[in-house]
Amino acid sequence: MSQVLEPSQPFYFKGVRFYPTNSPVAMEMVESLEVRDDDVFVSAYLKSGTTWTQQIVSLVCADDDISEVCKVPLSERFPWLETVRSGEPVPKLLEKAPSPRLIKTHLPYHMLPQQAKDGRGKIIYCARNVKDVVVSWHNLRRMVNHLPCGTWEENFKEFITPELAYSGFWWDVIPEYWRHKDDGNMLFIKFEDMKRDLRGHVVKIATFLGRTLSDQRIDEVVANCTFSAMKENPATNFSRIPALQKAFFSKAEGSGLEFIRKGEVGDWKNWFSQEENQILETIHEEKMAGLDLTFRFE
Ligand code: A3P
Repeated sequence: MSQVLEPSQPFYFKGVRFYPTNSPVAMEMVESLEVRDDDVFVSAYLKSGTTWTQQIVSLVCADDDISEVCKVPLSERFPWLETVRSGEPVPKLLEKAPSPRLIKTHLPYHMLPQQAKDGRGKIIYCARNVKDVVVSWHNLRRMVNHLPCGTWEENFKEFITPELAYSGFWWDVIPEYWRHKDDGNMLFIKFEDMKRDLRGHVVKIATFLGRTLSDQRIDEVVANCTFSAMKENPATNFSRIPALQKAFFSKAEGSGLEFIRKGEVGDWKNWFSQEENQILETIHEEKMAGLDLTFRFE
C-alpha cells in the first residue's frame, strides 16, 4: 500500500521515496499499461540527460519539418508516465494517444510497465556519472518551487542515504537497468559518451529505433540537440517560458539558474568537499564492484 503524505511532501511508493511531481495514482496504473510495439520509452535517473535524450529521440522519430517539431514543448511530445496531466493520470491519457507514443519516465526498472519488461516497445536508458547527477539535482531543487531544497550538504547526505533518495537510490537503480542492457528492446547510453560524440549517438539511437536518416537530416537533428540550441529553445528549456518560469521556477528568480544549466562533465569539482568525494567514492566502489559499468568523471 502506498503512503501518501501532504501533496507537496515527498511520499513513499513501494518503499521508494518520490517527490511531489509524481502521482501515486498514476504510478499504480503504470504496471498494467498496454504497451504498443512502436512505443519508445526514454528513461533516466533524475538529472542524467533525460531531456537531451528525449529531444534526440523526438527529432529522430519526426516525420515532419524538424523546425516545427522543435517548437512544441518537449513535455507535450513526451508525456511523463508517472504523473498527472490536465487532471488525468498519464497512463490513462496514453490509452487514447495516437501511435507512435513517446514516453518519459524516471521510474526504476522494476516499476516499468510489465509488457515493456517482457520486451514490447523500446526503452532507451541514459545514465550519467553520479557525482554530476548529485550536483545537477541540487541545482534543480534550488529552482523548482515545489521541490524541498536543503543546503548542498543536506541534499548530498539525502542523496547517499537509500531511504531518503528520491526516485530510488542511485546505486540500486543504475545497476538494475544495467543488468537489462542486453535485453532486445533496451539501449543503454551514457551522458558522457553523448558529450563526446553527439552525432554518433543520434545515429545509434536512429538505428536502434529502425530509422534511416539522410546525412542532412542527421545534421539537422544534431544542430537542434546541442547544449546551446537546447538552452536557447523554450520548448526544451522550460525555464525560458515566462508562464512556467513564474509558476514553477520563481524560487530561482535572480539566481541565473536555468533548467538547461551547464551540461558539463566534471562540474562536481566545484561542489564536492574532499570528504564528500571520499564518502561517495567509497560507496561507489563498494556498490559497483563486479559490475562491468564505468563512468567518466571529468
Ligand atoms: P546540469 O544541471 O549539469 O547542467 P535531465 O534532463 O535528466 O533533468 O538532465 C538535466 C541535465 O542535462 C542538466 O545538467 C542539463 O544542463 C543537461 N543537458 C540538457 N540538455 C543538454 C545538452 N544538449 N547537452 C548537454 N547537457 C544537457
